Amino acid sequence: SVMNQLLGMHQVEKEISQYFGIKRCIVVAGNSDNQEKVLYEFGDILTDSLDLLLPDGDNIVAVMGGTTMALTAEHMGTLETEKRHNLFVPARGGIGEAMTVQANSVSAVMASKTGGHHRALYVPEQLSLETYNSLLQEPSIQEVLTLIEQSNCVVHSIGRALHMAARRKMSDDEMVMLKQNNAVAESFGYFFDEEGEVVYKIPRIGLQLKDVQKISNVVAIAGGKSKAKAIRAYMKNAPKQTWLITDEAAANEILKGV
Ligand code: G3H
Repeated sequence: SVMNQLLGMHQVEKEISQYFGIKRCIVVAGNSDNQEKVLYEFGDILTDSLDLLLPDGDNIVAVMGGTTMALTAEHMGTLETEKRHNLFVPARGGIGEAMTVQANSVSAVMASKTGGHHRALYVPEQLSLETYNSLLQEPSIQEVLTLIEQSNCVVHSIGRALHMAARRKMSDDEMVMLKQNNAVAESFGYFFDEEGEVVYKIPRIGLQLKDVQKISNVVAIAGGKSKAKAIRAYMKNAPKQTWLITDEAAANEILKGV
């Protein structure tokens, strides 16, 4: 019955949050590997979650990029109230994604769907270290970086390591190194092995993993059976305040190994 299914889902949510030692897990029915509607539902759930998590006053929400984030953003609803105002910023500088799924674009869409505001971080890809460092001295960039540092909420996805490395056109040397270090997951430009240990980091400005640990509201969104291993690896050491929004296919696969 539907009731049993709902109870079953709640049980799975509880098992997952206990297994990772995180604050909360929400599981959507289906498999986002092949059902786009699951991602739309992520949008509803993210809206409801942020509605509960974000306090009144001025909030700064730092968001990452990726296809999950981009589609989730498209299906968000209003979060702005008379007392609560939200500014969306990209969590980190460009890490080699297509324009529409870059953190800048995701934060702009989230602002427009939720009725908030956004600020972009304009740092082009593929710069020499020298140019990159001098660009960082620009006041307009410093200003956005300061806002990012002040964020009280982070929303991000989790990807498969080698898939993400290939999509971001990382070098052959980097690919070899990721394989040698058994990288299985990627999030915020960090790569993790099966134990959730960082094995590599793309050097970019913006939020670092140690900053995320200290932010009171963290939401991770990732689903699909194909991502189960990556989600499990990243979540092992995820900040304890994390809320994980995932789907049934990923959740069942994660719990299989428990
Ligand atoms: O860091 C993780 C990736 O942004 C996930 O990308 O949502 O396109 O799988 P994806």
